[in-house]
Amino acid sequence: MTAGHGGSLTVVGIGPGRLDWCLPGVAARIASATDLVGYRRYLDLVGVETTARRHPSNNRVEADRAAFALDRAAGGGEVVVVSSGDPGVFAMASAVVEQLDRWPDRWRNVRLEVVPGVTAAQALASRVGAPLGHDFCVISLSDVLKPWDVIERRLDAAAGADFVIALYNPTSRHRPWQLGLAVEVLASHRDPITPVVVGRDIGRPDEEVRVLRLDQLAEAGADMRTVILVGSSTTRVLEGRPLGASVYTPRWYGLPEGHRPTAPSNHATA
Ligand SMILES: C[S@@+](CC[C@H](N)C(=O)[O-])C[C@H]1O[C@@H](n2cnc3c(N)ncnc32)[C@H](O)[C@@H]1O
Repeated sequence: MTAGHGGSLTVVGIGPGRLDWCLPGVAARIASATDLVGYRRYLDLVGVETTARRHPSNNRVEADRAAFALDRAAGGGEVVVVSSGDPGVFAMASAVVEQLDRWPDRWRNVRLEVVPGVTAAQALASRVGAPLGHDFCVISLSDVLKPWDVIERRLDAAAGADFVIALYNPTSRHRPWQLGLAVEVLASHRDPITPVVVGRDIGRPDEEVRVLRLDQLAEAGADMRTVILVGSSTTRVLEGRPLGASVYTPRWYGLPEGHRPTAPSNHATA
């Protein structure tokens, strides 16, 4: 399809799973859509009243889902693709733009918009204070779309450069060994008592948050609904404070006089 009156394709982030953590325009976009495309679980999480036709899919066929959504929009639909968190972080916005890159003459009549959302790392950070207060990076441990040696190299470089590191897709039934290997790489640069924040189902009814040490992470029981923040050398834990004010990474770098490295003494859970 090259010309004519196409519709629109909006890729929205619904945040980690609560509508009140979405940008204000997201619910209205979903409500007025003709078609909703996305992983079944995310469509269910949305919970917005809509007469849109739903096109649920599993989570493994992003390219097909993106092309399907573009086709519906090219045919005049007001199509909304739903991603969890931010649609640009390991999610559908990239899959959609990649399709436009692969097929430059197709879908020219489609108006594309990406609406950002709160990504899992930010959501978890907000639950414990401010662990992302200094330089940080985000790494997916999934080797479905990139080779494991690239992941190891990036972990090594990021840990060596003393970033706070957010780990997405930490482990799954098909790749239970990856988090353990990742911890080995991180531990070659970091103190074993480095604070680590483990969050599961953040913003959802079964939310769980724990503050651990790096040497406890491999056995922390993470899964694909878990995101992990590994502290840098300056990340600190405040003992005796509520969980929501318990971990931060200062804006300064280096340990000023009077500050010592700190470590969580207990597992904190919410
Ligand atoms: C394919 S990535 C999608 C990331 C998403 N676009 C975002 O910005 O949060 C899926 C991974 O994100 C993390 N994740 C997404 N939502 C989460 C939540 N509510 N609680 C914990 N982790 C979450 C997990 O690491 C999960 O394996």
